[in-house]
Amino acid sequence: MKFSFALATLLLSIEHSEAFTTKTYRSSLKTTASTSALSSVNNVVLRPTTADNPTTNGGNDETEGLLDVFDSLKIGSPIVHRYKSSTAYDYDSETDSSVNYVMWYQGRSIALDSEIENSLPPLSTGRIGRCVSKNGLVFQKDIKGAIGEDIKGVSLGLNNESWWNFDTSHVGLGSVLLPMTTPAVMTEGGIYLMYYFGGNFEETSIKEYMTTDAGKDISEDIKIKGMKMRIGVAVSQDGETWGRVEGDDPSGACMVPYDTDDTNTASMADEKEDDGKTPVVLEEELYCGWPEVVVKIDNDNSANSGFFMYYSTMTKITKEKSIAVAVSSDGFRWFKRGLCLQPSTSSDSEERNSLDDGGCARCNVVRNASYNKENETWSDEPGYIMHYEGVSLTDNKHRILSATSPDGRTWTKSSTESTANAAAALDIGNADTWDCDGVGSPHILRIDDGSQRMYYVGQQGKDTAIGVAKLELGSTTWVKEQSSIVFAELNP
Ligand SMILES: *[C@@H]1O[C@H](CO)[C@@H](O)[C@H](O)[C@H]1NC(C)=O
Ligand SMILES: *[C@@H]1O[C@H](CO)[C@@H](O)[C@H](O)[C@H]1NC(C)=O
Ligand SMILES: *[C@@H]1O[C@H](CO)[C@@H](O)[C@H](O)[C@H]1NC(C)=O
Repeated sequence: MKFSFALATLLLSIEHSEAFTTKTYRSSLKTTASTSALSSVNNVVLRPTTADNPTTNGGNDETEGLLDVFDSLKIGSPIVHRYKSSTAYDYDSETDSSVNYVMWYQGRSIALDSEIENSLPPLSTGRIGRCVSKNGLVFQKDIKGAIGEDIKGVSLGLNNESWWNFDTSHVGLGSVLLPMTTPAVMTEGGIYLMYYFGGNFEETSIKEYMTTDAGKDISEDIKIKGMKMRIGVAVSQDGETWGRVEGDDPSGACMVPYDTDDTNTASMADEKEDDGKTPVVLEEELYCGWPEVVVKIDNDNSANSGFFMYYSTMTKITKEKSIAVAVSSDGFRWFKRGLCLQPSTSSDSEERNSLDDGGCARCNVVRNASYNKENETWSDEPGYIMHYEGVSLTDNKHRILSATSPDGRTWTKSSTESTANAAAALDIGNADTWDCDGVGSPHILRIDDGSQRMYYVGQQGKDTAIGVAKLELGSTTWVKEQSSIVFAELNP
């Protein structure tokens, strides 16, 4: 079965927009294998493993065909840790100096995409991999991967042990935490938590994800597999080999869509707010994905400290792509608190060109902090800052927008208050550059010199890559950061 337009429309609605017209998704296999234009600022730090781009460490073992590489088609969801201690990561690389950055990311292979007869959601989800870097700009993929995975280079792959679980057909990355350390500076030791999401082989009708209007000419028979995504958690002692933690849901997930047709989720509606009295307002959901987990500090009531999870969902009735929030005291058992960021409505955007009237998704949330120049450290401040992906109905493109919150629950979009036209925190690139058709999946790190770096996914046509942008101390403008410096030239 081919999904041309129906799938294309769905795709627009769930991840980075693609410049599709009449092409079917399948045709992307050709474009991926061909050389893509790499012009202008080179702020790309990671690309899919392709014939033109075997691996970033140059020392690929040549017996591997591309069919055996998990990220040969697309990559996404970069999550980067920077370790303060130079011994935090004992990566046995060719060079003897230590590694200070680790990036986990998701990737889809050409094989996975074709195996399941092209009926997986057209995302960059598939399996999760890992790469390392000394400077945060030049990454080496871990081509060995974890023991026991079916493909080399995979850190967390498909669940092949429990066929009834939620994560058997594709998985994608949400967050990686070392809960015992602060987000700004990580030190060695501790248990890593990985929040990931995935789908199984259950089929749902594509029509379910479209408004009545958009879906009116689409047959019920057009199905998609693995779209009812759920969220799970895995733990690791080294960040390399992961063990899944069985969640409360029969599917093994720790966060599932609220749906009154699902008896396992019915009790979610009885939930009360943190005060134990106020009922929580929940809307029914079609999927839960891209979990962003943040340490929650409540100075007034330490019993209320724990974690927030922000996840991307689509409401079942209104088909709005929105961000919802849940809370947890232990990071494993979660309680929904309802939607926290929704698309600007048409009346909001009547007078202006809203950049998220088509949806909000895939956010990064950091606790507020201030930089102190004397001791070159970041200190926590009250409040939270979110960067998220907004979809514009005007051009169907995805851009990175921002919002702030005093408490992690109530969010104010940064650009919609005063400006006539909403401004993106990070906009799409110029025509014919690697990120001209969409930017998203932001992930922000604070650097010792007071600047901040954003890792993000860019898209040109069907091609995806991960790039970097920088926010200098005191500036409000993210600037795409040159990544491909030739380090050898530093010592002439
Ligand atoms: C799962 O995959 C691994 C690696 O390919 C394999 O060793 C193991 O036997 C598989 N388990 C099942 C239940 O199929
Ligand atoms: C750095 O200086 C600030 C302001 O004086 C202070 O609040 C913070 O605790 C200091 N941090 C460290 C690690 O010394
Ligand atoms: C972040 O902290 C600064 C300094 O305390 C404060 O002025 C600012 O309003 C805070 N931002 C948010 C989003 O709370």
